[in-house]
Amino acid sequence: MHERILIVDFGSQYTQLIARRVREHQVFSEVVTPQRALERAAGDDLKGIILSGGPASAYAEGAPTLPPEILGRGVPVLGICYGMQWICEALGGAVAPGESREYGFTEVEVLARDGLFSGVSARTVVWMSHGDRVQALPAGFQRLARSEHCPEAAVGHLERRLYGLQFHPEVSHTREGVTVLRNFLHWVCGCQHDWSAGDLAGELVARVAAQVGEDGEIVLGLSGGVDSSVVGAICQRAVGRRTHAIFVDNGLLRAGERQLVEETFRDHFELDLTVVDAADRFLERLAGVSDPERKRKIIGHEFIEVFRDEAKRFQRAHFLAQGTLYPDVIESVAAHGGPTAVIKSHHNVGGLPDDLEMDLVEPLRLLFKDEVRELGRFLGLPEEMVARQPFPGPGLGVRCVGECSPERIELLRQADRVVREEFELRGENLDVWQYFAVLTGSRSVGVMGDYRTYEEACAIRAVQSDDGMTADWVYPSRECLQAISSRIINQVRGINRVVLDITSKPPGTIEWE
Ligand code: XMP
Repeated sequence: MHERILIVDFGSQYTQLIARRVREHQVFSEVVTPQRALERAAGDDLKGIILSGGPASAYAEGAPTLPPEILGRGVPVLGICYGMQWICEALGGAVAPGESREYGFTEVEVLARDGLFSGVSARTVVWMSHGDRVQALPAGFQRLARSEHCPEAAVGHLERRLYGLQFHPEVSHTREGVTVLRNFLHWVCGCQHDWSAGDLAGELVARVAAQVGEDGEIVLGLSGGVDSSVVGAICQRAVGRRTHAIFVDNGLLRAGERQLVEETFRDHFELDLTVVDAADRFLERLAGVSDPERKRKIIGHEFIEVFRDEAKRFQRAHFLAQGTLYPDVIESVAAHGGPTAVIKSHHNVGGLPDDLEMDLVEPLRLLFKDEVRELGRFLGLPEEMVARQPFPGPGLGVRCVGECSPERIELLRQADRVVREEFELRGENLDVWQYFAVLTGSRSVGVMGDYRTYEEACAIRAVQSDDGMTADWVYPSRECLQAISSRIINQVRGINRVVLDITSKPPGTIEWE
């Protein structure tokens, strides 16, 4: 049995990030709704409880709440933002709207530099995001840190081991947030840090095995990318050759992709792999379509149709496995049913029809990309597969602005090969999240030899990112840019101009469509 931290989700966007930070410290965590919290707040394995932030006001009617006895069980509790305000309200303190909102980077002065703040600088920058604040502390609590507008930036009842932070230690903007969380886990809760990527793998395998049962079969949508490959490894361990991996050549793949996937899977997996050549089918449906969302919907829909056709061969294949990650889920679906804007229909998540008649197997749904990579390494996947840059499900289709005719896709494929080769040749791909070519959809006039040309413009897109949710553009070396530019213009007939995309996310997105 592993030691466990219970995380109560009050509706924060960052709840899974808290869980991830706890995992980073090799401690197992379980995320529960407030309704299930008391029931799960028991047992010898429970070392501590973290209450997340949330959008509500602690004093408002109908605000999420917990049975107050959860604070009286002798187990350490850390409340973050709303979580802290709830603790203070529940124990007789007062919460009220602050005189001014605090949002963004804020300097706090640490008043007690031991325990929770052991090893933290006397003045440190944290990330605040709140309108309400604690106005009166409950009996026995003391102030541990303060900011200019928030005297109660961190508070604690040291004897009862109850703590509250007005700021968010889980986001990377809080410079010493990792230390604060580690202190809570290590010094306050006394964790031994007995959880590892291996344990996570074991748990995910066991969950898939339980979901699929003794004789169920899985159809796995394999894209060749890290995520679906790791799902493949998990499914294989869970149900062996009852996993039928289907790799769809949709005509929108990068150069050499299909061969790479076939070889890697032959060498490293014992799965039943089918490669479906559906390029004509996809490209026919895409003929004449330029609208980005329509293209995404068509591609997503066609994938499902291909899977359905293939799945008919397996009588008990009632399960469809996908490599959906946590950032895909929060960008496509409103967390907690609230109204969150859908930016793009990620085809893993948004394109599924209601009448699918297959249960989804999504073991990576709560994980972030770098965790998936670590998991892949643990499961024995080759480094060239684990370290691959992400490639979107709709493939080159979302990098080809305008119509995806076979000719234009081929142009893009060739340009993309050049970009990848030149980055990799110079080692400039290391630490870069994604680097690829985009066919911009605009044409321009050029002169080659003594002739006028009027051809397509191609963009180089390279970004750095931690999880794909935000990104900074990358400046490749002049030599790299020079080589890409001259090779594309000389070797890819149909492109006469190369530009560099210098847009971060936000306001841009990583893919052009
Ligand atoms: P955007 O363009 O939304 O991309 O900034 C963020 C990350 O997600 C990838 N991406 C996708 N991945 N299916 C996927 O599996 C999709 O439909 C999809 N759209 C974008 C993109 O490559 C980047 O890493």
